Amino acid sequence: MDINIEADFKKIFKYEPQGSFFAPGRVNLIGEHIDYNGGYVFPSALSLGTYAAAAKRNDKKIRFYSVNFPQNGVIEVDLSDIIYRKEDGWTNYPKGIISIFAAEGLKIDRGFDIVYNGNIPNGAGLSSSASIEVCTGVLLNDFFKFGLDNVAIAKLSQKAENEFVGMNCGIMDQFASAMGKKERAIFLDCSSLDYKYVPLELKEMSIVIINTNKKRELAGSKYNERRRECEDALKDLQTKLNIKNLCSLGPEEFENNKDLIKNPVARKRAKHAIYENARTIAACKILEKNDVAGFGKLMKESHDSLRYDYEVSCKELDAAVKLALDHQGTIGARMTGAGFGGCAVCIVKNGDIEDFIKDIKPEYKKITGFDAEFYIACAETGACKLEKRL
Ligand code: GLA
Repeated sequence: MDINIEADFKKIFKYEPQGSFFAPGRVNLIGEHIDYNGGYVFPSALSLGTYAAAAKRNDKKIRFYSVNFPQNGVIEVDLSDIIYRKEDGWTNYPKGIISIFAAEGLKIDRGFDIVYNGNIPNGAGLSSSASIEVCTGVLLNDFFKFGLDNVAIAKLSQKAENEFVGMNCGIMDQFASAMGKKERAIFLDCSSLDYKYVPLELKEMSIVIINTNKKRELAGSKYNERRRECEDALKDLQTKLNIKNLCSLGPEEFENNKDLIKNPVARKRAKHAIYENARTIAACKILEKNDVAGFGKLMKESHDSLRYDYEVSCKELDAAVKLALDHQGTIGARMTGAGFGGCAVCIVKNGDIEDFIKDIKPEYKKITGFDAEFYIACAETGACKLEKRL
């Protein structure tokens, strides 16, 4: 779907926008549910994302419109009345950014008209919400000359999601959306925000995303529950060990100290986080050596750990991953993102992609009753003003 966000703006507000912006969604290759445990993640920004065009007003009104939610029409709010309301749906994300910016002393002193249009499937775990936040952040930064860099925008976007929307997410999605790079994955240390770009040279292979089309149910509350379980495990470990987060431990130290964690469920969660972190570090090294098959093996281990120890997979994700792994063209497959529905990420040989889709689609439908969708992912540049996009 080609998006012309300036034309969208003109159609709704009948005048020219002052600027247009883009922020991508992301796919995480490996390193799941460990950003908030101080671990390493390995995402790429996608070519799919959120576009926004806007123009400043002379009063304090903000008028929001999303081409993706035409039924909601133009939603008007006053700058003095930026509060979270569940029924306001998607506008809570941009409102969250405005509110957090204000709390940080980044003063938005004039209203604006803004139109959004995105091509990330909603609720599929490809970070459509982070892309709305980051897109709004880069736009406000440009319009009101705050001079923030994209890392600062990613941090404020995470804060908006944590404090305004109430989803206690880590930094991965907003960071990938803000800092993505063409043909690169980002190896990000979530405890320090040190990062490096790693070439995604898959040669005769591609990243294929399977959208299970199982909408992520209760993702927010289950997600926050996992975070709490990890915090409980950490507290127990800290009774003896001087550590800041779960991922400060390697697998061996964990095995030697795991009995400190009283609750067996919390112990399983910690096990996932610590082993997943080790897998992600290994995966980055392996990819740098171009060993895609070795990378695929780690992807499978990651999925199993998310399924059995972290318990964030579901029937649909397991079916998609199994069908992918059973296919001759597949090098690796796992669920990606928060889980409880959403997408699987697979590495597939280019010559087999057509058959991969043709074979898996009906089998998946037979097992789950859902129609799967498939996207071939390209790693893309992070958030930017559109004229500056490379
Ligand atoms: C969601 C969150 C991220 C991360 C992933 C799981 O996408 O927004 O911060 O925790 O889940 O890896």
